[in-house]
Amino acid sequence: MGVELNPSRIPPRELSRPVEETARGFRVDPRIPAAVPGFDAPFFQAGLAGYSDGAMRLVARSQGAPFCVTEALLDRTLINGGKGRRKEDPDLIASEIGMGEIEDNLAAGLDDHPLAGQIMGSWPDEIARGAEILAGMGHEVIDVNLACPVKKIKRKARGGHFLAFPEEAIAILRAVRDAVPAGIPCTVKLRRSFSDTPEMERNFERIFDAAYEMGYAWSTVHCRTVEQKYNGPGRWEFLRDLVRRHPDRVIFGSGDVWTVLDVFRMIDMCGVQGVSVARGCIGNPWIFRQAREMMAGRPPMGPTIAEQREVLLAHYRFSEVIHGERRTGRHMRKFGIKFAQHHPHAMDVKHDFIRCETSDEWRAVIERHYGADAEARAAEAGWRPSVVTDASAAMAMADADLDCVAAEVPAPGSPCA
Ligand SMILES: Cc1cc2nc3c(=O)[nH]c(=O)nc-3n(C[C@H](O)[C@H](O)[C@H](O)COP(=O)(O)O)c2cc1C
Repeated sequence: MGVELNPSRIPPRELSRPVEETARGFRVDPRIPAAVPGFDAPFFQAGLAGYSDGAMRLVARSQGAPFCVTEALLDRTLINGGKGRRKEDPDLIASEIGMGEIEDNLAAGLDDHPLAGQIMGSWPDEIARGAEILAGMGHEVIDVNLACPVKKIKRKARGGHFLAFPEEAIAILRAVRDAVPAGIPCTVKLRRSFSDTPEMERNFERIFDAAYEMGYAWSTVHCRTVEQKYNGPGRWEFLRDLVRRHPDRVIFGSGDVWTVLDVFRMIDMCGVQGVSVARGCIGNPWIFRQAREMMAGRPPMGPTIAEQREVLLAHYRFSEVIHGERRTGRHMRKFGIKFAQHHPHAMDVKHDFIRCETSDEWRAVIERHYGADAEARAAEAGWRPSVVTDASAAMAMADADLDCVAAEVPAPGSPCA
């Protein structure tokens, strides 16, 4: 499934006040840090299959993300002790990252908590076993994926396809809640419906209600249907109406959060307690720092070239720990292409990242475009980091949106919700 990584046709949002006012002094709903100590801001880094591994999460945390979700993990992978299990063990990743060559890295000492381990499966007994394993690996939250649009396997539903089968979806939620120790919160990721039919809309309500009745701490609702996959605008009005119907529930919104301004726009327009940042943070971990800046009443600044260099190098080194040197060169290309949009010579940088295969090539691109004198050269040419506005973000994304990207970047493994 090819996934569009830039926004299209976003309708105007009905805001009650300027976005800076919504952000300034915003206080997180106390139920959130009460459930997950340390979750102290109204946003988090979403699960993003093919992207949100330990490396991306550590970088996000270094820039202010208070909470992250793993990529969707199949229960069978966990049960079989497969690669995903090792790769997603936050403590293992943190301990390996804290060792050896990267011990003096800026982000060293950070650990990958608090973290939701996201689980997906087809059968209640298997998903229960998988959730138990995940909880035993030290995740603070177990998140059930009822949102992934990837087609069902062997005629059995999983992910978002359960939204067409409410009884089975509820059985999955029940099995996970029963299997996970009572002290560990469970949460659920949903789409707003399987499709735009009254029957499917009722299914959503049943599953949504059942989750809260079983004690799920919150839901994250992606405001596209499963049928819609990632295409077209998300329906923020759906989130607004859902919150109005259930003002007492903690609900996180997901869909079309492309810039820091969208974080607070969604909070204002929809009334959600928080926002899941997904495609908007790929190659843009500064979105979290910017959100914190706005909460402190300061303008959200784009990164300097030195800051970009630091983050690119850290992300690469963390990736090498997780994926090994051979795979990292290719794995990082899709990030490099998105990171490039912050650079004054975005096109050149992007083209250079697209061609990277190896660590040496990656480091050479960084030296060429982010080296010690790059900032000085850019300043001489009149470039400096600017405040994030809709216009500046649109320009950067337009720069990033080259045909060659679609052609060259492999579709992510399994875009899962
Ligand atoms: C490449 C890709 C992979 C994704 N993988 C996951 C996943 O593993 N788990 C999950 O809950 N959501 C996943 N999602 C969905 C996002 O978390 C988010 O709900 C969705 O992209 C809508 O937000 P956006 O329009 O702001 O990107 C994925 C999305 C994309 C684009």
